Amino acid sequence: MNSTQIPKSQSLEIEMAAIWARQAARAASGGNAQPWVVKIERLSDNRLLFRLGIDSRYSCRPSPMDVDGKAALMALGCYAVYVEAFAALAGFEVQSRSLAAGETAWETEVSLVFRPVVGARKTKYSEQALQQRWTDRRVYETAPCPPDLQRRMQDVLKDYGGIRATSVRSRIEAAIGPLRKLEALRWKNKKFRDSLFEEIDFSSGKDAGASRKIPASQLGVEGFDLLFLRLMHGYPALRTILSMGGSEIVARKTVPRLLRASSGVWFLQAEVKSNAAVFDLGRCFQELWLVVNDYGYSFQPIGLPLVALSYWSGDSCGIGQSPAQTGVVREVTGVLREKFDLDLKELVLGFRFGATKISQSVSSRLSPRAEPQIESSKT
Ligand SMILES: Cc1cc2nc3c(=O)[nH]c(=O)nc-3n(C[C@H](O)[C@H](O)[C@H](O)COP(=O)(O)O)c2cc1C
Repeated sequence: MNSTQIPKSQSLEIEMAAIWARQAARAASGGNAQPWVVKIERLSDNRLLFRLGIDSRYSCRPSPMDVDGKAALMALGCYAVYVEAFAALAGFEVQSRSLAAGETAWETEVSLVFRPVVGARKTKYSEQALQQRWTDRRVYETAPCPPDLQRRMQDVLKDYGGIRATSVRSRIEAAIGPLRKLEALRWKNKKFRDSLFEEIDFSSGKDAGASRKIPASQLGVEGFDLLFLRLMHGYPALRTILSMGGSEIVARKTVPRLLRASSGVWFLQAEVKSNAAVFDLGRCFQELWLVVNDYGYSFQPIGLPLVALSYWSGDSCGIGQSPAQTGVVREVTGVLREKFDLDLKELVLGFRFGATKISQSVSSRLSPRAEPQIESSKT
């Protein structure tokens, strides 16, 4: 069945589960690893089985940041957090979580079994936070992370023994240089920058597919810079300016300013290499994002380490490597390993957070990026 409509004959439980699946489509998804495929089944004892996967329509044209399907699998972890949270609000807890490997990470299938529980339920974040998660790419206040939020973030980490979190805020100047170089590379390399432009919507929601994209109003750039981006969006030939030194200007204007204007800058790294670890990294990342937003603070992912990973993975993304670009990646990888014990040859994902100076409402996503494909069956 290729539809989000559940036939009337299906049970109420399945209908309820389909609602969780639809609401969960608000989860974060770098590179748009959607639509998600959700298969729902009833098991004995009123339990529900969710099988989550990624639609092949996405995996045949992944973003170059989605190295070997890792970003997509992390995004599936983000989606699972949402499904689990809506299930918890309805009185169901996760009984088991398992992954079935496919030939590629994109073909991994995640199974979640839920069982009904009686009594009070504890959720880590409010329903409001789930509905209103936002991505804010502007400057934040610079006050240090409040102890209360720090404690809530550490509580999340306790559930993820295999994930190491590194806070770089107190040594931010040492992190700025290497991250600025990766940002410049992202704008210099044609494949990366074209996919960035592809992700932005300049039509104020009017163009086809606009709802899947990042609204230009949420980029955190204004005035002349925004005009310039709009022009390059409309006239791709202009983007070559970025290969000729423009990328360094963009990186110098954005990275130091944004990293300094934050209450915290963290990087997450999985200790082991497995699909399960990649999925867990996505879950941990999404939980931290929700806790931060629930506290009223803004959040922006830092996907720059994925730029380095794509070089190290031997150009599986077809980005095209020049000796100069490879040299930059080698240098940046060495510095971040030495100074922060981060290994960019493996999966690393960062984020920054802080109180927002201006209304957060402009940063909220108003509707899910894409409806999941839901299939259901009775047993
Ligand atoms: C793995 C991953 C990497 C991302 N990297 C970045 C990034 O480098 N910069 C950024 O501004 N947003 C980044 N994002 C955020 C996405 O662009 C997107 O805004 C986010 O997933 C939520 O989308 P929404 O708030 O529009 O629903 C990333 C998200 C994920 C899941």
